[in-house]
Amino acid sequence: MTKLTQLTQATAAKVATLPDAQTVTAVKHWTDSLFSFRVTRPQSLRFRSGEFVMLGLLGDNGKPLLRAYSIASPAWDDELEFYSIKVQDGPLTSRLQHIQPGDEIILRTKPVGTLVHDALLPGKRVWFFATGTGFAPFASLLREPETYENYDEVIITHTCRGLADLEYGRQLIEDLQNDPLIGEMVDGKIRYYPTTTREESPRMGRITDLLKDGTVFRDLGIETISPDADRAMVCGSLDFNKDLKEILEEFGLREGANSEPGEYVVEKAFVD
Ligand SMILES: Cc1cc2nc3c(=O)[nH]c(=O)nc-3n(C[C@H](O)[C@H](O)[C@H](O)COP(=O)(O)OP(=O)(O)OC[C@H]3O[C@@H](n4cnc5c(N)ncnc54)[C@H](O)[C@@H]3O)c2cc1C
Ligand SMILES: NC(=O)c1ccc[n+]([C@@H]2O[C@H](COP(=O)([O-])OP(=O)(O)OC[C@H]3O[C@@H](n4cnc5c(N)ncnc54)[C@H](OP(=O)(O)O)[C@@H]3O)[C@@H](O)[C@H]2O)c1
Repeated sequence: MTKLTQLTQATAAKVATLPDAQTVTAVKHWTDSLFSFRVTRPQSLRFRSGEFVMLGLLGDNGKPLLRAYSIASPAWDDELEFYSIKVQDGPLTSRLQHIQPGDEIILRTKPVGTLVHDALLPGKRVWFFATGTGFAPFASLLREPETYENYDEVIITHTCRGLADLEYGRQLIEDLQNDPLIGEMVDGKIRYYPTTTREESPRMGRITDLLKDGTVFRDLGIETISPDADRAMVCGSLDFNKDLKEILEEFGLREGANSEPGEYVVEKAFVD
């Protein structure tokens, strides 16, 4: 292949992806393995808080290298926020972790997902169960007014290995109380239940174990989880999702979907 053909192909690839390019507006590194970033929002993008999109960078072969990402910002926000892992040998995040404001990423405008209010039947209390970057869809839903219109109480549990891994979520929840847009709606409704598994902290252990032995209920002063009052959304590793599904089914909750709302919904935070 001549140099000119190579150049033409590379230019064509770039032009082909341009309609999906968005500009990075902010980046924050939380730990060696976690960061969040904000990008411009395409005018054509409509989504429901809790959904995910495909995003990425142009690969070395000139083709888009895309991965699923939960939108961490709420549907009303002018920009889009994402909360990401850094996998050191991961094809995408080994590079994505180096983005800077002004850089471009590729973002496909076809949002999908099951962690949406439409997939749950009406209830009194909603539980958001997250591990690791599984917090991302709840970062969106916690800033979504519909969450507080639909429920009297919102319980967010977040289990991570260490304290620093909880920081993105902890700060977001702290800031919510003072948010000029939804601070008043949130007032007194959120209960935050963070736990760590590998570093000493005020609350230790996997949320699954703490649910099974009743610690969560004793700590929060709640009798139980019941299909009459409680709804749940779950986002973590495949194992976590499987274990939590079993627990929720034992409490009598049934899984819902966009096409058939139920009492709980589940989404993968990543594929093992
Ligand atoms: C529906 C859905 C939503 C997702 N939303 C997010 C999100 O909001 N934020 C995010 O960081 N990732 C999210 N992911 C994972 C994401 O798609 C990529 O896997 C991740 O960005 C790593 O890409 P990679 O190419 O660097 O490595 P990959 O080749 O994709 O992954 C390599 C390995 O790293 C581990 N891994 C990947 N992602 C994670 C993670 N998030 N947490 C812990 N371990 C992980 C897994 O063991 C995986 O096999 C989501 C995945 C799915 C299916
Ligand atoms: N450098 C670091 O310090 C650091 C920090 C975080 C992550 N990482 C890396 O990032 C990658 C992803 O790690 P991650 O911590 O984000 O994701 P993860 O391995 O899915 O763990 C997140 C949290 O979920 C808990 N968990 C896992 N399976 C569960 C289950 N079936 N039921 C209940 N809880 C469960 C874990 O507890 P357990 O601890 O009991 O498994 C942990 O507290 C790993 O490759 C890791 O090496 C590195």
